[in-house]
Amino acid sequence: MTTLVAQGLVRHFPVRGKRVVQALNGVSFAMEGAVTLAIVGESGCGKSTLGRLVSLLDQPDAGTLHLNGQRIAAPGLAKVQPQVRRAIQTVFQDPWTSLNPRLTLGAILDEPLRLMTGGMNPARRREAVMEMAGHLGFAPEQLNRYPHMFSGGQRQRIAIGRALMLHPAVLVLDEPVSALDVSIQAQILALLLRLQRDYHLLMLFISHDLAVVRHIANQVLVLYLGKVMEVGPAAMVLDQPLHPYTKALQQAAPKLRLGAEPLAPHAPLPGDPPSPLDPPRGCVFHPRCPHTIAICRTEIPQPRLLEGRQVACHRAHEWPTEKEPGESATAPGEPGGGEPDRAADA
Ligand SMILES: Nc1ncnc2c1ncn2[C@@H]1O[C@H](COP(=O)(O)OP(=O)(O)OP(=O)(O)O)[C@@H](O)[C@H]1O
Ligand SMILES: [Mg+2]
Repeated sequence: MTTLVAQGLVRHFPVRGKRVVQALNGVSFAMEGAVTLAIVGESGCGKSTLGRLVSLLDQPDAGTLHLNGQRIAAPGLAKVQPQVRRAIQTVFQDPWTSLNPRLTLGAILDEPLRLMTGGMNPARRREAVMEMAGHLGFAPEQLNRYPHMFSGGQRQRIAIGRALMLHPAVLVLDEPVSALDVSIQAQILALLLRLQRDYHLLMLFISHDLAVVRHIANQVLVLYLGKVMEVGPAAMVLDQPLHPYTKALQQAAPKLRLGAEPLAPHAPLPGDPPSPLDPPRGCVFHPRCPHTIAICRTEIPQPRLLEGRQVACHRAHEWPTEKEPGESATAPGEPGGGEPDRAADA
């Protein structure tokens, strides 16, 4: 079973005038098995920066990443081995630019096999390409078509298939359905859930859309100014949030379920996040938080385990989650504690 553990990941980008953008400031999480961790938060909170670190496209300034117990990222770590690089694949938001327009669907799926160290014989490659095309819902005659002959959703299927050709253990998806219509989003999410089962994939799913996240994630990590505000089972974090920032995100969400009617009227999150060039002291959320008290301005809240999730808020224990009469909150691992909404996974 795949394990992925991030400990204290930091990424600071130097910019002109000797200043630094504190894009990530000590992010930790632990994942095991064919699960999906969603990374959520407003624009600029560090989601893609975290995705790039996990994808090994960038190196942390501090902190470590372990895959199956092996340290794969740390400051100054020597070049990663090809088999480690192969084990982690990435899918980006834009299916219009991520595919080579001069290659056919068949050639795009074949490319990772062709370039793979050691190689693979052509007959086996053809077989693997046919099999993947089938998984993705393409007919054999479509293998000769070029990217521009496919729709946006089909192109994203191709990008996902290409990422899976070498059977990675981890798939990082950065806003993979944000550019697509809602009905197409549901199809892609259903495909991802199916492929996750078939390929035993551990997935890191970056999204700003809570309706999409609810659909696919077992666990949710809420980022704000490069710090983890709350992390835990999706059902708890999304339905019974404890951190005021998670609550604000939830209340600002235009809709809570994919394809559902928009919530009206929704409460947009007031104000913008402060600059990561100069993050606030104490709790980074305190200038926008309706519950700020003196300690929030001076002391950084450490994450602590509360009602089945980790939450970094000085006051989180003051507002127990509301429970339905006769119901108790689920704990991690219990039924309902981490099951994504698989309504459209047909
Ligand atoms: N290479 C870079 N150099 C300087 N600053 C950077 C660099 N990459 C990211 N940043 C900054 O780091 C912060 C986090 O950026 P990131 O792209 O990770 O955010 P995000 O959560 O993915 O946002 P979005 O939802 O808009 O995609 C932002 O302030 C961004 O401007
Ligand atoms: Mg991003």
